[in-house]
Amino acid sequence: DVVLFFLFLYNLFVLLLYNLRRIKIMREKIYIFDTTLRDGEQSPGASLTPQEKLKIALQLEKLGVDIIEAGFPISSSGDFEGVELVAKHIKKCQVAALARAKKIDIETAAKALKKAKYPRIHTFIATSDIHIKYKLNMTKNEVLETAVEAVKFARKFTDNIEFSCEDAARSDIDFLCKIIEEVIKAGATVINIPDTVGYAIPNEFGKLISEIKNRVPNIDKCIISVHCHNDLGLAVANSISAIINGARQVECTINGIGERAGNASLEEIVMIIKTRKDNELLKNFYTNINTKEIYPTSKLVSTLTGIPVQPNKSIVGKNAFRHEAGIHQDGILKKRQTYEIIKPQDVGVPSSELVLGKHSGRHALKKRLEELGYK
Ligand code: KIV
Ligand code: ZN
Repeated sequence: DVVLFFLFLYNLFVLLLYNLRRIKIMREKIYIFDTTLRDGEQSPGASLTPQEKLKIALQLEKLGVDIIEAGFPISSSGDFEGVELVAKHIKKCQVAALARAKKIDIETAAKALKKAKYPRIHTFIATSDIHIKYKLNMTKNEVLETAVEAVKFARKFTDNIEFSCEDAARSDIDFLCKIIEEVIKAGATVINIPDTVGYAIPNEFGKLISEIKNRVPNIDKCIISVHCHNDLGLAVANSISAIINGARQVECTINGIGERAGNASLEEIVMIIKTRKDNELLKNFYTNINTKEIYPTSKLVSTLTGIPVQPNKSIVGKNAFRHEAGIHQDGILKKRQTYEIIKPQDVGVPSSELVLGKHSGRHALKKRLEELGYK
């Protein structure tokens, strides 16, 4: 009997291990590339000193992002110093530096990243007709050659190379597929597809990612990334659609700050993936983010950049977990989930709040009086 019992326990253990492995294999990681310190800092008036960048970078490390884009070293000596300082102190995340597809930019980025434990050079060139013609004044062939040369040159410094096709969402798909194929051959390990001007609509952006996945023959050699701007308020929706269609890295910022209307907001993307585990299309994805650090990170970024967070901002806005209407307050007091899909503590907010105002009801008033010691 004893032998049988131990045999039974052993079988149970093997079965458990097998299922755990299966569950893990099925789950797919979404890499979080935080660009608060680069694209986020490009928000008008958001300049950060190197020390301030380091403070935010250390908090991003605590938050659990996979890659910190620390700046654009060629753009100013301050940015160079900022990247250098972040690279020196960050030990758990990759640290990326931006560079145009030019030798001098790439050399400068590599120099700033010298002390990084896990450096990444992020080089880019525009691929849309409008940018090629009016901004770059080049032919498509010249763009292709420049991109390939840039990636090959960057590989002299590290084998962790990200290539971005700026304005990809408005680029000719045939040219886009061609340039992606060639830069992968040249050694790019991450291909970023930006919606630089926030022009895309979720279904078409998702289709673009799946078309790239299906048409570029060597695409399996790299990770597909997306970088969405929020000019039409669709940055997060487009990023999610891209994930569903094959992207495995998303570029985003804390509080959604960034050029013009900003970038996709990190906290929203992460909490969509975490909250909608019941959704067929999202259930297998996860991120490494410690969501309890979301609110402290949001506060720090807002304080140091001087950019306030709008009260109704998802996840981190002042009102995101406050309830004023009587019907809602009554529901919350009976069962929190009636009007809250996220537990405030899960994102580092101490608690939800019942605000007494014009629309409040008896139930919340009674609770407040009891808290104050009145019957
Ligand atoms: O918006 C954009 O296209 C960018 C690239 C440099 C990645 O910020
Ligand atoms: Zn951008």
